[in-house]
Amino acid sequence: MRASDLEVYRDARTGSRFELRIDEQTDREIVSGRLVAGDVSFEIVDGIPRFCPPENYAASFGYQWHRFATTQLDSHSDSSRSSEQRLFNETRWPRDLRGKRVLEAGSGAGRFTELLASTGAELFSFDYSTAVEVNRDNCRKFDNVSFAQADILAPPYEPGAFDMVLCLGVLQHTPDPRGAFRALVRLVKPGGEIVVDVYRLWWRCLFKGKYYLRPVTRLLPARAQHFVVRAHLAWAYPLTGLAHRLGGRGVGRRASALLSVADFRGAGGISAARARELSELDTLDMLAPRYDKPQTLRTVRSWLEEAGLEGIEVGPGYNGIEARGRVPLSAQVG
Ligand SMILES: C[S@@+](CC[C@H](N)C(=O)[O-])C[C@H]1O[C@@H](n2cnc3c(N)ncnc32)[C@H](O)[C@@H]1O
Repeated sequence: MRASDLEVYRDARTGSRFELRIDEQTDREIVSGRLVAGDVSFEIVDGIPRFCPPENYAASFGYQWHRFATTQLDSHSDSSRSSEQRLFNETRWPRDLRGKRVLEAGSGAGRFTELLASTGAELFSFDYSTAVEVNRDNCRKFDNVSFAQADILAPPYEPGAFDMVLCLGVLQHTPDPRGAFRALVRLVKPGGEIVVDVYRLWWRCLFKGKYYLRPVTRLLPARAQHFVVRAHLAWAYPLTGLAHRLGGRGVGRRASALLSVADFRGAGGISAARARELSELDTLDMLAPRYDKPQTLRTVRSWLEEAGLEGIEVGPGYNGIEARGRVPLSAQVG
């Protein structure tokens, strides 16, 4: 972390500022030390402040993103730039965000972090799992990003500190998606914007095989989850391939959902090997997380209304439901 990040970090419980105790630093960053506020102290380990216990319910994500560190990064393997398209379509944010302070909640390996960093924004990015280490390694070349390991439900940032807050693919994986959304809204400054997405709860969930397998798979240790996913794909991946070939994209998609296989072969423009790797990653991502709490359109809309946001838009989208809103200029911070 950089000493200047102290401006923005706050103790989530008391709102107090931190005092920085440095053990080791380089020209570029504080490598180890502590952030102290009263009787609370958080360690800086390997350049990253850790505001939560190192092992927590998101451990499967830590394993997943260490194992598939660059698989989803446009900069490494995706000529179709699918993350870039998704990010800028979902947010509708400009490509130049210089002068804006942006928060990314639940960054994973950093497929959106590298794109947000390229806009020139002053970016704060955090994740509850050790995936944040992978993200930091992937985005080392940027000096406008600050990383933290932290919980959305207790975010260690100053209320109202951000022009924009982004949270994609995360809320459903917390024990309290509504509480997580509310915690993020508090961090947006008056006139600022929040964009989130969340899995959709609707009749189609009845035909998603993952909801029948997850009661068991979510409880396994991460390595065992990965083993189970590989074993599952060994028989199910050829079947969903057959469904794609014989029935076309629609039938293929339905078979994939039913059999709990993330199948990218209908997407077009990607090699068989890449489709298989993406499949392994995303099938793990379906079966491993401790929490998967999809929401209805109506519920998500109620979150934004309760928070008093303006310009509310809630609708079906890439990941299920996409939602956006602005904090009124007249809003009280905190
Ligand atoms: C499916 S991944 C999405 C990562 C990234 N946003 C993306 O779309 O590639 C979900 C991420 O949310 C993180 N996560 C889960 N619960 C969290 C919490 N309470 N606070 C912060 N991050 C959390 C996980 O560790 C994981 O990296």
